[in-house]
This record gives sequence, C-alpha cells and structure tokens, in this order.
Amino acid sequence: MQLPVTLRSAIEQELSAVSFSTLTAAANELSDRYRQQKKSDRFMTTAEHRLAYLAVRMPATFAAVSKALSQLNEEFSPESLLDLGAGTGSASWAATGRFDSLRRITLVEQDRGLIELGRRLAEQSETLRMANWQAANLRTLAEFDAHDLVICSYSFGEIEAGAAGKILNAAWRATKQVLLIVEPGTTKGFATVRSAREQLIEAGAFLVAPCPHQAACPMPPMGEDETDWCHFAARFDRTSLHRRLKSGSLGYEDEKFSYVAVAKHPVTPATARVLRHPLRQPGVIQLQLCTPDGLQTVKISKRDKEVWKRARKVDWGDELVQNRER
Ligand SMILES: C[S@@+](CC[C@H](N)C(=O)[O-])C[C@H]1O[C@@H](n2cnc3c(N)ncnc32)[C@H](O)[C@@H]1O
Repeated sequence: MQLPVTLRSAIEQELSAVSFSTLTAAANELSDRYRQQKKSDRFMTTAEHRLAYLAVRMPATFAAVSKALSQLNEEFSPESLLDLGAGTGSASWAATGRFDSLRRITLVEQDRGLIELGRRLAEQSETLRMANWQAANLRTLAEFDAHDLVICSYSFGEIEAGAAGKILNAAWRATKQVLLIVEPGTTKGFATVRSAREQLIEAGAFLVAPCPHQAACPMPPMGEDETDWCHFAARFDRTSLHRRLKSGSLGYEDEKFSYVAVAKHPVTPATARVLRHPLRQPGVIQLQLCTPDGLQTVKISKRDKEVWKRARKVDWGDELVQNRER
C-alpha cells in the first residue's frame, strides 16, 4: 500500500524545510513519548514533532485505516465523513481513496499546527480541499453533527477512559451508518478497542468487522495471556527517508493495528475472521479463526475441495466465508 502520489509529494515538500538530523531527533522523541504513553498528554508539541509525524506515522496510520475500510461492505457508499482527532488527516485521505461517494468531510483536531499542515496537504485532493477543519478539544464537545461515516483513528489511545467513553457515545450518536475505531495493534490499543466494542454493543450497535458475532470478545482478558490479542497488519511501502529515519533496511513496514467497525443498522456479519498468518503446509492449511462459537484452530485439508479453494485465498485479517447453516 502506498500513499497517493500527490500526498507523498506534498509531504516531501513539507519535509524539505527541515534537516535530516532535526527530523531524526524529533522522530525519536515522538516515538519515546508514544512508547511511554501517558493518556491526556499532548504528544506533538513542536513544529518538528508534527513534521516527524508526517514522515513516520502518517503513511502507517493511512495504511491501517485503508485496510480496515477494505473490510466494509463494497456497497457502502458514504456521502459524509467525520474524522475525530484527525491529526494531519490520514484517515480522511484513506476514506477518500476508498469512497468516491464522499462529498462532505469534517475533521476535528485540537492542535492548530497539525490543522495547518493537514490543510496544506489537503490542497492536493479535490474532495479534501473542501473539507471543514474544526479546531476543538473533543472533551469539550457534547455533540457532533451527524455524518454517514465516523472515524476515530489512533485518537482514543491519547484520551483517558472516562472522557473517551463520553466522546465515543457522542461519536455514536453522530453516526448515521458506520463508526470505525482504529488503534495501534498493541495490547493497550486492543484493550481500548475492546472496551469501545463493549460500549457500542451496549448502545445497540451492529458489528461489521472484524468480529463475526456480537457476543463477548473471546480473547483472553489482557494481563492473563498477552501473547494473544486481536490485531492485524497493514503493509506499506517505505520511502528512503522513512527507512533512514527508522534505521530500517526493508522497503516496507507492517503497521500493526486493532480496529472495530460497527453499523447503525443490522448487517450480515462475517462468518469467521482469520486472526493470524495462515500456516500453509503441503495438502493442509491451518487457520486461527474467530467464529461465532469462539476462537478456533482449524486444519483444512486439500481433500475438502470447496473450503480449500476459499482457504487458499485468505490471509491474516480476511473473512473466511463459511457455511452459515448451524
Ligand atoms: C496519534 S494522532 C492520530 C492522528 C490521525 N487520526 C491519524 O490516524 O494519523 C492522535 C491525534 O488525536 C488528537 N487528539 C488527542 N486528543 C484530542 C482531543 N481531546 N481533542 C482533539 N484532538 C485530540 C491529537 O492532537 C492527534 O492529532
């Protein structure tokens, strides 16, 4: 996955104003702050931090949101989008890439420096150029205007649980069709997503993805078995600057993320979700699945022709279409 060419060159243009050593120092500082994450902090406090976010994080969050959106029904065609904790607009860029139908976009962000940057980048997109950027602290807004699609991408992780719960309720009230929450694919990010999922089910939401059911999440409670939590990966191409900033050698990076998408109206849920890379051996594919009956490890034999055909094509994060008769 790649950022749109126009966005990539607009980012390069912004980054040309700062030296590599300054950017590296800011990227390292930002990454330390995120690692020691204390909720309710402002993570980006300088112009250099914001540029480092553009260079290092924007391609990653764009990829994660794009991947999550790819799991929504192909017929879903939202006309309006609300992007909460928008930063420089990654999620909105991902959504405009996925939905030609978008006509009205509202981005809410507390940091004016990020809004200025985001606005300049948005000049490169016919749809985003018209977007409405709102400088506001989400904690202080009791209601949002209603939009077809509402996205909170990597923003709840920065807000303490009590305030995040209220913002989530308001986001849900503002959702006309689908609400998507995306967080880092860490145990902490997953815990945030899982608690949002519980709250939304309580509020009457219908699960769209990744969960194939509305029941309690079958993943072990965090702290008991932290080797197992629900997360996925979005691969994106790295620029040479990205590689140098992260001292990496690969031409790509896998951004791990957790997410939940819910709908206002009943939808047909996935029948099963692939939770890990499939283990492919001659004549057998082993899949770890989340199903309506809980977590399952299944071995699919080549002899089972119909299922084999489907299993061969699936990857980590995909739906495995199964017989609905039960
Ligand atoms: C990790 S960044 C994510 C930005 C963007 N959504 C993305 O996916 O790249 C989190 C963003 O949420 C914003 N944010 C955090 N708490 C906020 C609040 N209470 N009100 C408004 N924005 C907030 C931060 O300023 C930051 O831009």
